[in-house]
Amino acid sequence: MRALCWHGKSDVRVDDVPDPTILDPRDVIIRVTATAICGSDLHLYDGFVPTMESGDILGHEPMGEVVEVGKAVTRLKKGDRVVVPFVIACGSCFFCQRGEHSGCDVSNPNAHIAREMMGQSPAGLFGYSHMLGGFAGGQAQYLRVPFADVGPIKIESGLSDEQVLFLSDIFPTGYFAAELCGIEPGDTVAIWGCGPVAQMAIRSAWMLGAGRVIAIDRVPERLRMAEAGKAETINFDEAKVYDRLMEMTRGRGPDRCIDAVGCEAHGLGSPDAVMDKVKTAVNLATDRAHALREAIMCCRKFGTVSIPGVYVGAVDKMPMGAAVNKGLTLRMGQTPVQRYLRPLLEKIEAGAIDPSFVVTHRLPLEQAPEAYKTFRDKQDGCIKVVLRP
Ligand SMILES: NC(=O)c1ccc[n+]([C@@H]2O[C@H](COP(=O)([O-])OP(=O)(O)OC[C@H]3O[C@@H](n4cnc5c(N)ncnc54)[C@H](O)[C@@H]3O)[C@@H](O)[C@H]2O)c1
Ligand SMILES: [Zn+2]
Ligand SMILES: [Zn+2]
Repeated sequence: MRALCWHGKSDVRVDDVPDPTILDPRDVIIRVTATAICGSDLHLYDGFVPTMESGDILGHEPMGEVVEVGKAVTRLKKGDRVVVPFVIACGSCFFCQRGEHSGCDVSNPNAHIAREMMGQSPAGLFGYSHMLGGFAGGQAQYLRVPFADVGPIKIESGLSDEQVLFLSDIFPTGYFAAELCGIEPGDTVAIWGCGPVAQMAIRSAWMLGAGRVIAIDRVPERLRMAEAGKAETINFDEAKVYDRLMEMTRGRGPDRCIDAVGCEAHGLGSPDAVMDKVKTAVNLATDRAHALREAIMCCRKFGTVSIPGVYVGAVDKMPMGAAVNKGLTLRMGQTPVQRYLRPLLEKIEAGAIDPSFVVTHRLPLEQAPEAYKTFRDKQDGCIKVVLRP
């Protein structure tokens, strides 16, 4: 089959690779009909994530049709149309039982590597490094889906691929991020980033009772998409974010802050961002955390900072003094997607949201290498790419 493979920093190619096969009776194989590129893939593309190997198949936002079913699978059959969450989870361990699927204790066969880096291993993820399981990803014609009775959600209504595809990651992730905030009715929610995750967080914040949503980025078309979602915006190229947020909240700061940027934040010459840039360039640091630091500095006293943005290693220059003295709550995580699939599918079916609004580019899998570059460099108005294998 054809699959998008990682070969090094800024080097991804569509290669011929062996078709996946059933390796465990709980697996299914799907023929991928639509698969998206995520901001998280850019951290791999830009070389921020360790334990990648040349030839690894990327992609963790797939959907498709079941073509082969392992003997132990009871919920799916050949021909079913499914969306596959990016988190691989067993469904029965301590964490899965608590709905904390991204903490699954069973699904990462390389848990020992992750444990060394993080103390305990999170769940295995599709297409996201050997430390997180070395699972082949879904930017491919076919995908092996482990624990198929637990992850994939069947789509039985006539919704299009693009309307349901983002249940695999960014819709649950934006919703989870907003939920972690503990929004109280009327709260002001500030969101760093206007990428796809932030776009979903904006819509989710409204659903959860926000009174005001302020979104921060510098890419004009992303800011416009945020405004179409009824957010007020700040262009960080044009205004000092802290000053502007204090003006907008009469000096109090936003009640809830969401860092939907993660480890590759731009910082426009602010001292911490310059230091990050120098240190990451010579491998003395793993992350550029300017957005997170800024969110902590801006958040109102006793407010919440929610972090869906992905970080890799030990972030330095963290304003812990500000966080402690202001009594902030920090919450974060890879999304336990499984627990959001059903309720969020119901929201799409009820017409409360149509996540396909975020798609700007639709391309064949063969054009994935160009698509990565266009998405990374924010050329051609690119906000979200859907590939058709
Ligand atoms: N927690 C999870 O489960 C999960 C799931 C999906 C994605 N993510 C992460 O969420 C983050 C966002 O993903 P995405 O797909 O929207 O990515 P993206 O790269 O398309 O968007 C990031 C946006 O942040 C903006 N930005 C950069 N520096 C900024 C700054 N200082 N202030 C404000 N905005 C800034 C960029 O211009 C860009 O528009 C990534 O880190 C991704 O890895 C996490
Ligand atoms: Zn993703
Ligand atoms: Zn589990």
